[in-house]
Amino acid sequence: MSETSLRHPRLVASQLCLLSGLAVLLLVLPLAATADCPCRDPALCRPISHHPDYEVFVFDVGYKTWKSYDWSQITTVATFGKYDSELMCYAHFRGARVVLKGDVSVKDIIDPTFRASWIAEKLNLAKNQHMDGINIDIEQEVNCSSPEYDALTALVKETTDAFHREIEGSQVTFDVAWSPKHIDRRCYNYSGIADACDFVFVMSYDEQSQVWSECIAAANAPYNQTLTGYDDYIKIGINPKKLVMGIPWYGYDYTCLKLSEDDVCTITKVPFRGAPCSDAVGRQVPYKVIMKQVNSSISGSQWNKDQQAPYYSYKDSSGRFHQVWYDNPKSISLKAAYVQNHGLRGIGMWNANCLDYSGDAVAKQQTEEMWEVLKRKL
Ligand SMILES: *[C@@H]1O[C@H](CO)[C@@H](O)[C@H](O)[C@H]1NC(C)=O
Ligand SMILES: *[C@@H]1O[C@H](CO)[C@@H](O)[C@H](O)[C@H]1NC(C)=O
Ligand SMILES: *[C@@H]1O[C@H](CO)[C@@H](O)[C@H](O)[C@H]1NC(C)=O
Ligand SMILES: *[C@@H]1O[C@H](CO)[C@@H](O)[C@H](O)[C@H]1NC(C)=O
Repeated sequence: MSETSLRHPRLVASQLCLLSGLAVLLLVLPLAATADCPCRDPALCRPISHHPDYEVFVFDVGYKTWKSYDWSQITTVATFGKYDSELMCYAHFRGARVVLKGDVSVKDIIDPTFRASWIAEKLNLAKNQHMDGINIDIEQEVNCSSPEYDALTALVKETTDAFHREIEGSQVTFDVAWSPKHIDRRCYNYSGIADACDFVFVMSYDEQSQVWSECIAAANAPYNQTLTGYDDYIKIGINPKKLVMGIPWYGYDYTCLKLSEDDVCTITKVPFRGAPCSDAVGRQVPYKVIMKQVNSSISGSQWNKDQQAPYYSYKDSSGRFHQVWYDNPKSISLKAAYVQNHGLRGIGMWNANCLDYSGDAVAKQQTEEMWEVLKRKL
């Protein structure tokens, strides 16, 4: 993910306004900004007040691909790309929320004054851009008995209180790892955080970020490992209605040091946060690229029964073997069944841009099938 500045020009100006003479401007500008609505119908600038009983939470990373999304399902779009007012107007037209991305250094938030100013800045930005909340995505390392541990829970609570108070019906969410068991050295107060916000988005992917056993290519989100993560969140007391299942619309391409006859791809050891081996050695590939490559691969699409995931192998132009592990409608629908069986809040993906929206007949079918599996089975 590339870091895109979402800072509103007016806010940059406001930060310079430390001189008392300009204090008046500080008060007037946000009000003026709130008044100018970029939508054809000014009513579309109002935040969404409806609370759906099932969430389809979509991450968008920019461009205009959103025009091809299945808006009949979307309830929230977390915009991690450049702010697009056209997207905001359209989402509101379809009754969907549009939320900001929130990221901040955990070292800084130990200071309550810093937290307050960070929250005020995000709130101001959300108001100026007519948005409906914020998705806090902090994936940093936190030690269990550190001041950051409690500061993070406090940040989420204070952000939720401020947003709910200032933007009626707004939504505050937090992204958590696939398991609460200190994945990637993230010791967070998961139940405290879930209590403090509207719901958490469980990032059930990058599950090979810390591999302690054999260093071989494996699924991005293996079936059992993924569902064990949800069982564990529920076990620590989190209400299933506070959990949204996050599934990947991308896979990993690994270069094999050796590819055995029974399809075991040995990979280079790249350590990550204490583990000797990691998916960091692989390359993330969107589903649309995978679908263009799979038919011409040497293996074609294969199915791994243990991990309940598809993969294929191919040879690159310099003769090296690669193995690509990904998710498709079959592997996703197996996991998605858990959402209904355990009464989770909904489902979502990283990220919606990964599908092929070119309109080509085969691609169109594949794209529709990926959106289709998000639907609740009645
Ligand atoms: C966590 O604690 C370990 C050991 O005391 C230390 O080396 C590490 O830097 C700490 N990490 C953070 C993010 O504070
Ligand atoms: C987590 O946060 C909640 C709410 O702030 C608090 O009551 C609880 O004691 C915390 N849990 C742990 C294990 O620190
Ligand atoms: C790849 O093969 C599958 C199964 O044979 C077929 O349905 C699909 O259309 C092919 N994809 C492309 C891009 O040709
Ligand atoms: C998944 O876990 C269940 C229960 O722990 C076990 O019975 C099953 O064999 C596992 N499946 C795979 C494919 O590992």
